[in-house]
Amino acid sequence: MRVNLTVNGRPQTADDVWEGESLLYVLRERLGLPGSKNACEQGECGSCTVRLDGVPVCACLVAAGQAEGREVVTVEGLADFARRRAEGGCAGGSRDPGDCSGAAADAACASETPSGAASGGATAAGVGLDQARAWRPKPADPAELAPIQKAFIDAGAVQCGFCTPGLLVAADELLERNAEPSDADIREALSGNLCRCTGYEKILDAVRLAAARAERAV
Ligand code: FES
Ligand code: FES
Repeated sequence: MRVNLTVNGRPQTADDVWEGESLLYVLRERLGLPGSKNACEQGECGSCTVRLDGVPVCACLVAAGQAEGREVVTVEGLADFARRRAEGGCAGGSRDPGDCSGAAADAACASETPSGAASGGATAAGVGLDQARAWRPKPADPAELAPIQKAFIDAGAVQCGFCTPGLLVAADELLERNAEPSDADIREALSGNLCRCTGYEKILDAVRLAAARAERAV
């Protein structure tokens, strides 16, 4: 089957998707976005966390067909997503202009296309696989990282490539809906993201740091 979805603001099409194929497989193997990690493939570790219409999900548990017509944000698009949100754009992944989350403003949302293509630079026809694979996330410059990514670096929370992408996506979503999370809030939001080796203290520090920086910036 063919699956049409929007990933990081760009319309994408995956062909010959078999019924049992996961969204994670489509992202990694078909669309060339390996940021979401494939660790347990059982919904246990959170390494594959992405946002589907704004909601954090384990991409390994989502059938690719369930993503038809929907919006996905992966760690590769996190900085652009955060930037759009900060600018008041409809970064929440909602297809309803009046249903933006976080700091998104309705007026700004309404001015965007439902697919987010206006900021993604893609056409309604989508982009080909080669183009998708050639695409590089915008934050080549560390100065362009999302605030949560900067906080992870500054707090020494980038521990390994398996847990970090999912943690970043989950932490960013937490701070979007709760600007001043308690430690309990942070632990609950990240409870589905497992580290098997290093620990969580620096990760907690990073989320606290991002929240404190956002507060100072207001
Ligand atoms: S790979 Fe999806 S939860 Fe572990
Ligand atoms: S699994 Fe990534 S640091 Fe432990």
